[in-house]
Amino acid sequence: MRVGIDDEHHTYLEAGRIAAELGVAWVALHARTAAQFYEGKSDWSTIARLVEHLAPFGTPVLGNGDIWSGNDGIAMMRDTGCAGVVVGRGCLGRPWLFADLVRAFNGESARPLPRLFEVREVIFRHAQLLAEYFENEHRACRDLRKHMAWYLKGFRVEGDLRSRFGMVSSLSELRLLLDQLVDQPYPEAIGDAPRGRTSHGRPVTLPDGWLNDPYEFADVAGDDAGTGG
Ligand SMILES: Cc1cc2nc3c(=O)[nH]c(=O)nc-3n(C[C@H](O)[C@H](O)[C@H](O)COP(=O)(O)O)c2cc1C
Repeated sequence: MRVGIDDEHHTYLEAGRIAAELGVAWVALHARTAAQFYEGKSDWSTIARLVEHLAPFGTPVLGNGDIWSGNDGIAMMRDTGCAGVVVGRGCLGRPWLFADLVRAFNGESARPLPRLFEVREVIFRHAQLLAEYFENEHRACRDLRKHMAWYLKGFRVEGDLRSRFGMVSSLSELRLLLDQLVDQPYPEAIGDAPRGRTSHGRPVTLPDGWLNDPYEFADVAGDDAGTGG
């Protein structure tokens, strides 16, 4: 869940408590309101507040928002007391973020940052797995196109080659393009910077009358629980 609709309507503490009372295994909080969308930095203090709020129930809280590196995962758990972290945009084009988190949680300092030639093989494996998943090579390559900009972000890649990756349509073409890349170290600074959507906030559109009475539908847990709209 997010923190709430906007700064005037924070719902996470109550939503978390209701979920805890119903016996959920854990809750995860993206530390932004819906109105914030992806703007600015997520407010990790809300995660700390939820951890405190749900402590009496023993319900673990997972924190979410701006985990770009393994060290961010450690920092979030240290600063908020959350039981674990959830990754969103940070793994776009960087599936090794999970290895980096494991590394950080194990207290190891050397970061597993791949050179471009290693990234190249991750990309090809990604494409192969997509082709198996979709049972369709062309569809897999079309899906891969959006990942290419994320994979290559920060690396020096000639413009024409970059745009051909964005139009790739077969595994053999992908291989030919990948083999034109020039090996280079991982661009660490850019790699840890925000990626994916970073859009500004925007007002939230709510159904008519939504805010009139927060308990209006509170009795749906009656006869038709689980079947209501
Ligand atoms: C590709 C992608 C798909 C997502 N899909 C959903 C979704 O279906 N429902 C949802 O509530 N959040 C979705 N999110 C939001 C993430 O779960 C997460 O809350 C948000 O990205 C903030 O975490 P981050 O700062 O690590 O990106 C998605 C994020 C990404 C990058």
